[in-house]
Amino acid sequence: MEEKLRNLATEAKEAVEKAATLNELSNLRVKYLGKKGHLTSILRGMGSLSAEERPRVGALANEIRSQLEVLIAGRTHELKEAEREERMARETIDVTLPGKPFLIGKKHPLTKVQEEIESIFLGMGFNIAEGPEVELDYYNFEALNLPKDHPARDMQDTFFINPEVLLRTHTSPVQVRTMEKTVPNLPVKIICPGKVYRRDDDATHSPMFTQVEGLAVDKRITFSDLKGVLAVFARQMFGADTKTRFRPSYFPFTEPSAEVDISCVMCKGAGCRVCSYTGWLEILGCGMVHPRVLEMSGYNPEEVTGFAFGMGVERIAMLKYGIDDLRLFYDNDLRFLAQF
Ligand code: PHE
Repeated sequence: MEEKLRNLATEAKEAVEKAATLNELSNLRVKYLGKKGHLTSILRGMGSLSAEERPRVGALANEIRSQLEVLIAGRTHELKEAEREERMARETIDVTLPGKPFLIGKKHPLTKVQEEIESIFLGMGFNIAEGPEVELDYYNFEALNLPKDHPARDMQDTFFINPEVLLRTHTSPVQVRTMEKTVPNLPVKIICPGKVYRRDDDATHSPMFTQVEGLAVDKRITFSDLKGVLAVFARQMFGADTKTRFRPSYFPFTEPSAEVDISCVMCKGAGCRVCSYTGWLEILGCGMVHPRVLEMSGYNPEEVTGFAFGMGVERIAMLKYGIDDLRLFYDNDLRFLAQF
């Protein structure tokens, strides 16, 4: 039996050394060392050996097994190396081939316009404030002088989570949140960009859109300050020749209130389809902060005054770029987005 094992070892070693491919090697491993291989079948005869012989033969078999394992591993390594060398000699890399183009993304047009609005107001000394999109009825309506039964609530029909919690319909609640935090310090000068939600859906209205709120509170803030700030904004945003016009309006949280138009960006005021032949385009709502709002936020309306405004970022972007359908901003169509 020992003899058989030794012969097997010699035969196997030779075969391994001669093996020319990895495939051949793996067949040899199965043939000699596998479960049904030669070594196993010789060992099956161990039962007929005497008790003294058995451990010796067992030890020899184990040694042969490990020698063969080492040989096979060594040969495998050799063959792999040879294959690699051969491939290195054959393959060449053409370093002059053009690379794969790497597509760099860019900012969404609404982000760009929002950042442009922010930078104009930062330039006039405003800070940026933030507030929650899921808002309390108190901040969205009540503290803005819109009690529960106020008819102006209907214009901002929205998504309620429960009777006291809703998706904010405008960024104006941030006016109140900011004043509550800053009182009694002055001045307050913030803008607040953010998403707002209303039950509207057509070519110029989306159930989710973006506003930028503005608020300035100090001693002796007047309507002239409001006009000046918004005129500067309009000129920087739409061009130095842009005119502004204030029309009386109504908001429960400002008094007096106004809507602001700019001279039409397309026809410069002559009248065209974009401005419905009026020469003017509406861009925002504004007014002097209502004394009751100042009071509910902790300021004394006898001592301080303020102005506030709110504009839609989508609307500004549409006017600036001459886009006639607001839904394009949300369609994720690269043919549209890549133009900005
Ligand atoms: N919050 C108002 C709206 O969404 C806009 C506005 C803001 C008006 C601030 C006046 C002052 O329509």
